[in-house]
Amino acid sequence: MTENRETLRASLLKELDPAKIPAHIGIIMDGNGRWAKSRGKSRIRGHQEGARRVKTVVRFANDLGVKHISLYAFSVENWARPSFEVSALMRLIRAYIIRERNDLHAEGVKFRLLGRLEELAPEIVRQAQISTELMQNNPGLSLNLCINYGGRAEIVDAVKKIINKGYKADQITEELIAANLYWPELPDVDLMVRTSGEMRTSNFHLWRGAYSELYFTPVLWPDFDDVELLKALLAYQNRERRFGMISEQLAKN
Ligand code: IPE
Ligand code: IPE
Ligand code: MG
Repeated sequence: MTENRETLRASLLKELDPAKIPAHIGIIMDGNGRWAKSRGKSRIRGHQEGARRVKTVVRFANDLGVKHISLYAFSVENWARPSFEVSALMRLIRAYIIRERNDLHAEGVKFRLLGRLEELAPEIVRQAQISTELMQNNPGLSLNLCINYGGRAEIVDAVKKIINKGYKADQITEELIAANLYWPELPDVDLMVRTSGEMRTSNFHLWRGAYSELYFTPVLWPDFDDVELLKALLAYQNRERRFGMISEQLAKN
């Protein structure tokens, strides 16, 4: 079985066009609960297993030359879950940030937290800041961990910043809004992946996802690996991104 997997991985890798790697991949890591339920385990075990998956995917994306990966780990809506699960998720997120710091740094990765940080436990924000500062000059992929993140909240927060800076209505442009999002240097999301078969984007990257290619897979997040990422990348490379134009115009470029 392992041999088959290796053969599959190698043949998918051969199909991949290194010139068409998306600069920014967003992943809605869904299905931890169902993964656990189908094995008679607690939802928390599912989240633990899901957290383990992150390493494989981040490392592989970095090796392929992906510049940004945004991982949706906790939405503004997820506070509505049972408080036991919310606390467990917050503990897991904090533990993940601390545990993975040195390995991520060794791999040359950068680290950023995206979301309403002022509503998070200060300890999580502090640990994230340590990682961000430690890795800020690294050359590799930027891991953008989205916690207490909502696409609408991000736009609302941008509008507040703009008003506080004193801009007038006729000065509002798309560039100005983009420049006031969380981490304005992040580019648009090229490829948005959602695991677990749900076909919705659940308030993820609304602004930067305006022209994302969407890829939905029934695979549950704890089962998602480098082979699954390769499948998503190949699907992406087979799309024609027209940005409002027609095929013939693109062929000219
Ligand atoms: C995704 O898995 C993780 C978070 C939203 C934090 P879920 O916990 O949503 O898993 P399902 O959808 O219940 O299977
Ligand atoms: C989306 O998953 C949020 C994250 C993966 C963090 P959910 O499982 O919370 O999404 P919905 O509510 O089912 O759309
Ligand atoms: Mg879910």
